[in-house]
Amino acid sequence: MSILIQNIKELIGAETKPKLFLKGKEMSALKTIKNAWLLIENEKFSAFGKMTDKESLDRILKNNKLKLIDAGGKMVFPSFCDSHTHLVYVGSREIEYIDKIKGLSYEEIAKRGGGILNSALRLHKASEEELVETAVQRLKEIIAYGTGAVEIKSGYGLSTEDELKMLRVIKKLKGISPLTIKATFLGAHAVPAAYKGKQSEYVDLIINEMIPMVAAEELADFIDVFCDKGFFTEEETEKMLMAGMKYGLRAKIHANELDYSNGIQVGVKYNALSVDHLEYTGAREIACLLDSETMPTLLPGAAFFLGMPYAPVRKMIDSGLAVAMASDFNPGSSPSGNMQLILSMGCIKYRMLPEEAINAVTINSAYAMGVSEELGSIAIGKTANVFITKPIPSYEFMPYSYGSNKVETVILNGKII
Ligand code: NIG
Ligand code: FE
Repeated sequence: MSILIQNIKELIGAETKPKLFLKGKEMSALKTIKNAWLLIENEKFSAFGKMTDKESLDRILKNNKLKLIDAGGKMVFPSFCDSHTHLVYVGSREIEYIDKIKGLSYEEIAKRGGGILNSALRLHKASEEELVETAVQRLKEIIAYGTGAVEIKSGYGLSTEDELKMLRVIKKLKGISPLTIKATFLGAHAVPAAYKGKQSEYVDLIINEMIPMVAAEELADFIDVFCDKGFFTEEETEKMLMAGMKYGLRAKIHANELDYSNGIQVGVKYNALSVDHLEYTGAREIACLLDSETMPTLLPGAAFFLGMPYAPVRKMIDSGLAVAMASDFNPGSSPSGNMQLILSMGCIKYRMLPEEAINAVTINSAYAMGVSEELGSIAIGKTANVFITKPIPSYEFMPYSYGSNKVETVILNGKII
């Protein structure tokens, strides 16, 4: 089916010369067309223009198999790309949430067997079917909030069997969901209880058993390591990334959330696609990123939920860096996959301009999950993932009006959902 959306108040992220990502000052320029139309054919964007271009519109309207949508007063955005989530899990962790309110730190909760290990225990007991079912509900929810592509990590398995179980669940989700999904192997999310005091043996298990099996079943697109204080060291991270790369798994790592862990430097050294969190980013880290193809990715939901310091994003962009933003959707540090909220947090907490924040959750986050050639902006030939908003006064209203869902209609792969 072909779809023509007409009378679009403003078409956002429409690119005639699409770039794979935007950096520094480029991030504050958002390409838009006011009073626009957009044509979708064969799951792709095939043309767009201004409503005043009657000639083109008349030609298109001769095709009587067109589905017409009138978007008067509404805007069309490229769907959000959420490049960092852990949305396959069972159960919630509001007990720890109360502990946090009472003043315990993330690391203290983890040390008491809470945190990631708590979710690992529950995941161990859950069937693949239950995991698929609960994850599908979350996917439906994020679609309704405007997400069109999502990266999902393993990392609540922490044994060969359960890591494979999680990744098989993600593979199933790829088959049943209209979302574009990328899978990341995160065996090195935490040291499991069975390996307490034997961290190096667990690292060896990841390298010698898990990675080869994940690769043999082609279950992952990327490899991740939680390289931070109290979790995995720089040296361990290096070993695991090297092992992953041997099997064609590019790195996307958790870095510098709890301290200056050198995670950013290791990520850049191994040409990671992204380094994520980055609350502890100083001049050295910025200099290192400037010289790389690695996308610094910010997860303001986690800093917000944990009451932790925010990454120095203004300094990063003003230094010329690109940045992406993602939700980090997970039961422990960010139990929401609402990218509209992330957009608002980017503006409010990081002091990003609305244009910068919108670019960070579309084209730059598409790059951070390896899909910016086909997603992340509205360009001819790209996959037709967009949402139509409710009537809104301006695109700045999207981050401004935090907490309510401004998405009215979702189109993924050229089909109305
Ligand atoms: O990205 N930082 C490490 N991992 C997750 C938290 C996962 C959890 O607490 O369950 C994060 O915030
Ligand atoms: Fe995470």
